[in-house]
Amino acid sequence: MQETLKEIVNAAKEAVAACSDESQIENLRVQYLGKKGQLTALLKQMGSLSAEERPKVGALVNQAKQELEELISAKKQELKIKAQENKLNEETVDITMPAKPVKTGKLHPLNTVLDDMINIFQSMGFDVVDGPEVETDYYNFECLNVPADHPARDMQDTFYLGENLLLRTQTSAAQIRTMETRKPPIRVICPGRVFRADEVDATHSPVFHQIEGLVVDKGVTMCDLKGVLEEFAREIYGSDTKVKFRPSFFPFTEPSVEVDVTCSECGGKGCRVCKGSGWIEILGAGMVHPNVLRSCGIDPDVYSGFAFGIGLDRLTTTRYKISDIRLLFENDKRFLEQF
Ligand code: DAH
Repeated sequence: MQETLKEIVNAAKEAVAACSDESQIENLRVQYLGKKGQLTALLKQMGSLSAEERPKVGALVNQAKQELEELISAKKQELKIKAQENKLNEETVDITMPAKPVKTGKLHPLNTVLDDMINIFQSMGFDVVDGPEVETDYYNFECLNVPADHPARDMQDTFYLGENLLLRTQTSAAQIRTMETRKPPIRVICPGRVFRADEVDATHSPVFHQIEGLVVDKGVTMCDLKGVLEEFAREIYGSDTKVKFRPSFFPFTEPSVEVDVTCSECGGKGCRVCKGSGWIEILGAGMVHPNVLRSCGIDPDVYSGFAFGIGLDRLTTTRYKISDIRLLFENDKRFLEQF
């Protein structure tokens, strides 16, 4: 019996030493020390021994049992630590791996150009003011010297929201609101969305953007208007840009001009973009009509002013050589990502 015990213990020691994972060692524990295990079976055979031998062999078996128990639990501990180490090694973070790029987005080209324009005008001392997109007939037309029966209304048909409310057709409405609330000297620009009942095509959209400008002070002349707008055009299109002032008509300015710049596509030679003329029209302007000053409570015998309205969409398409205004509003990322 002692021989068998030795064999069992030796075999168990070998098996434990060779064991490489936690489930194997648990199987060994059951195999040797479990209820139906080999050592337990030996203890059960004790009854066949003589009374003399029984305590001796009993002590030996118990000693062997204890020894194996300790061995197995030490091995269990060892395997557990090993498994943990393996797991940690497998899960190490490789901090040298390139990170997933963060998509930050960027400004829409209209906003980039708008920001540039705001910077240019702010550097010349202009404030930025805001105006409502839903306007009254009074602010959008009447007060700008365009009474209900004026033919100039035909050029700016819009969307009406009832009797007197409409979507503003021009940021010029902001001129009036400014003159009603501020006293001269006034120097403001008002960027914003405007609306017209236009058919959509490559150069027209029922929603587009303007930047209105207004200066009112004592002794303001056409020279000031020319100086400010020439400076602006050169800042936006480059210092060799030529600027042309053409006589025009707007009901709220007298005299009125339209302003062209040398075509940025061909440099003035004439191309498809400028329809062969070498020039591109970018804005309307003029000296504020005395009637407009008067209706805002400003005495035209003391004060004078100039105003201008710039088309932001036109400025953006010419600057980035975009051939179709619709691209600005479709929000196709493949297009927008290029700017
Ligand atoms: N409001 C005009 C338009 O939409 C543009 C304009 C012309 C604005 C002359 C002005 C101006 O302030 O003085 O066609």
